Amino acid sequence: MTRSVKKWNHRDRIIAPSLLAADFGRVAAETSRAINAGADWMHLDVMDGHFVDNISFGPAMIQAVHETNDIFLDVHLMIARPDHYLPRFVAAGADLITVHVEPEAGHNVPSTIKAIREANCLAGLALNPATPFEAALPFLEDIDLLLVMTVVPGFGGQSFMEEVMVKVEAGVKHRTENKLNYHIEVDGGIGLESAAVARAAGANVFVAGSSTFGAPDMAAAVRGIREA
Ligand code: DX5
Ligand code: ZN
Repeated sequence: MTRSVKKWNHRDRIIAPSLLAADFGRVAAETSRAINAGADWMHLDVMDGHFVDNISFGPAMIQAVHETNDIFLDVHLMIARPDHYLPRFVAAGADLITVHVEPEAGHNVPSTIKAIREANCLAGLALNPATPFEAALPFLEDIDLLLVMTVVPGFGGQSFMEEVMVKVEAGVKHRTENKLNYHIEVDGGIGLESAAVARAAGANVFVAGSSTFGAPDMAAAVRGIREA
């Protein structure tokens, strides 16, 4: 499937439903449902059972979504050795690949970021709630997206951790001062109220699983987060 990937910038307000909250038995239909509900991106949470205490899916799921729908694929690698698996996610159709900065992810962060961009994908860097903003500082001029986790990664349906908004604010300040253009994404426990808090702190990409796929009216939920 050829893909016309729209150019995005950090002024866009982007809503990215997380497939983790969808019906895995109907992935193609669920992705279409998200697109029809107004989603801009699909957020795909890859978990390996090592970096996080859960296992979700691998490249084959990314490929299934890529081949059945034409939407921007925001792939969140919560895995160890993302550099080793990177070619498989690129081949599967990822448009943006986010890796974790924490040492437990076991890779050379700058070389992984470089490899993602050399593969013509956008590069994201994720910070767990306990990881200070300073851990991202050496890499911010080389990434397209900073993912500030608003829950401890591994499961959907958790509560929003407002205390990490200081990292969103620090990300905005650094981007402005250094004339950079990376998106700031929040991920975990995002619903109408928490989206408003994250928006006020400066986030522009909103990952939402349970509050969108779990909503009686997905379009209203997506619209509500966009207008929060
Ligand atoms: C958690 C994932 C999140 C999660 C979001 O490890 O990274 O993307 O699926 O799900 P909700 O929106 O239900 O918290
Ligand atoms: Zn995620």
